[in-house]
Amino acid sequence: MSKIFVFDHPLIQHKVAMLRDKDTSTKDFRELVNEIGLLMGYEATRDLPLEEKYIETPIAKTTVKMLSGETVAIVPILRAGLGLVDGMLALIPNAKVGHIGLYRDPETHKPVEYYCKMPADIDKRRIFVVDPMLATGGSASAAIDFIKQRGGKDIVFMCLIAAPEGIEELQKNHPDVDIFIAAKDDHLNSDAYIVPGLGDAGDRLYGTK
Ligand code: PRP
Ligand code: URA
Repeated sequence: MSKIFVFDHPLIQHKVAMLRDKDTSTKDFRELVNEIGLLMGYEATRDLPLEEKYIETPIAKTTVKMLSGETVAIVPILRAGLGLVDGMLALIPNAKVGHIGLYRDPETHKPVEYYCKMPADIDKRRIFVVDPMLATGGSASAAIDFIKQRGGKDIVFMCLIAAPEGIEELQKNHPDVDIFIAAKDDHLNSDAYIVPGLGDAGDRLYGTK
């Protein structure tokens, strides 16, 4: 069974609290998501593999530990997942970025795919699938299905707010995928929105409502 990591760092909790406030502006919302992406990314990359490299400092020859050049892929689920990419890229500028376009059908709440483009060497990378919200778990499960079909093996999922229903669904469908979250909320409402949540993450990021 996959592991769940809840990042209860005070900075992350404070910024998530600001995101939840309905009066937070689009500009502030976008900046906060970016900052939380960076803070969560720092923790979520804790066990990335290092390799030994031989270098010369101005003083002596020595071996040091460095990330391998081809370690990471970041895969945002469009659209809202895009908000978490820049923070992660600030940490790992050489990461490649794949994209998966999914939206939830408003009637059925089931994910509909409209775009998918992955790095060619996705099978060799640690893949961070990012999306601010894990509600029913349908979008995350479908995105990870697509990534696995294209060869991805080493996958983790990172989101800001998760509902218990979404965690259960994702663990059932992908027991090999660890889940990093900033907050576990109470439940889903009848429209499959997370309660208390923060509303529609994509609309709040891009000011479309
Ligand atoms: C939101 C969110 C997730 C999905 C979560 O996207 O960003 O992708 O819903 O819901 P689920 O766990 O029930 O599948 P949405 O479909 O609203 O698309 P958008 O990012 O384009 O706004
Ligand atoms: N998608 C969102 O953006 N918010 C929710 O609460 C649920 C799904």
